[in-house]
Amino acid sequence: MTVKTPTSCRPYTLGGVTSGPPCCEPVPHVRIADLSVAYGGNTVLDGVSLDIYKGCITALIGPSGCGKTSFLSALNRLTDLIPGATVKGKVDIAGLDVLHPQTDLLALRRRVGMIFQKPNPFPLSIRRNLELPLREHGTRNRALLADKIEAVLKEVGLWDEVSDRLDSPALALSGGQQQRLCIARALVLEPEVLLMDEPCSALDPISSRVVEELIERLRGRLTVVIVTHNLAQARRIANYAAFFWMTERVGKLVEFGQCIELFDAPQSVLTQAYVSGAAG
Ligand SMILES: Nc1ncnc2c1ncn2[C@@H]1O[C@H](COP(=O)(O)OP(=O)(O)OP(=O)(O)O)[C@@H](O)[C@H]1O
Ligand SMILES: [Mg+2]
Repeated sequence: MTVKTPTSCRPYTLGGVTSGPPCCEPVPHVRIADLSVAYGGNTVLDGVSLDIYKGCITALIGPSGCGKTSFLSALNRLTDLIPGATVKGKVDIAGLDVLHPQTDLLALRRRVGMIFQKPNPFPLSIRRNLELPLREHGTRNRALLADKIEAVLKEVGLWDEVSDRLDSPALALSGGQQQRLCIARALVLEPEVLLMDEPCSALDPISSRVVEELIERLRGRLTVVIVTHNLAQARRIANYAAFFWMTERVGKLVEFGQCIELFDAPQSVLTQAYVSGAAG
């Protein structure tokens, strides 16, 4: 594996012009050491060690089946819900030992939100989609609930589109609106880390761009880890990138570094082949 552990954020310049996303300093937030994931005893991801930086956007890229979703799922223990899944190694989120058996999963998932490829709002009203997690985590006061719901819908740019129909079914929204509602549902709990598994890939290009802009606005506030097959998107928004590859059906981390550098000057021939479109 080639990890060019960055020590500071270097603005990327092309032809003398600074390009790429705004700088984000490499301060470790999620520290992953020797992580492996297996299903029914078959290891699908092995020996992954990397730091994910606070407030930055990190893209996970690599071909289908190399373990990106498995990796994300291990970070907030969604793997616990998969029969036969086992996770080994260490995941530390600002001092919280994620994989420790006694870790409080409700508290963990409050700190680490997850967004999936296919928008999955609850089959309830728009309002209830946001009220439910808040109530589950102890907010009962009606005025406070209403305030938080309005604020988070504004944050994801949905307020103007839905403020007159908060009690309508969430499933009647467009795909892009549903995905923004799902992001709002995660954000309303004020997580510190947001895991996003191909959040734009089921959306049309315009909705995808709207969600992408929303993700960019989270930079600096939240630590975002995003799986994407859209390399142009990774290049536009990600500060750092991790490239996974699979050898004999076992996924491994091949390279990690500043995103644009990993694209333009990869250290590994595998990364080079993948980002150039020659493999994967
Ligand atoms: N619940 C499961 N039970 C058994 N095997 C699984 C399970 N989930 C994933 N796998 C296997 O683990 C490997 C990694 O899958 P994973 O979904 O993590 O890959 P991925 O990189 O996210 O792929 P994609 O880009 O297609 O989403 C694959 O071989 C897959 O078949
Ligand atoms: Mg996946």
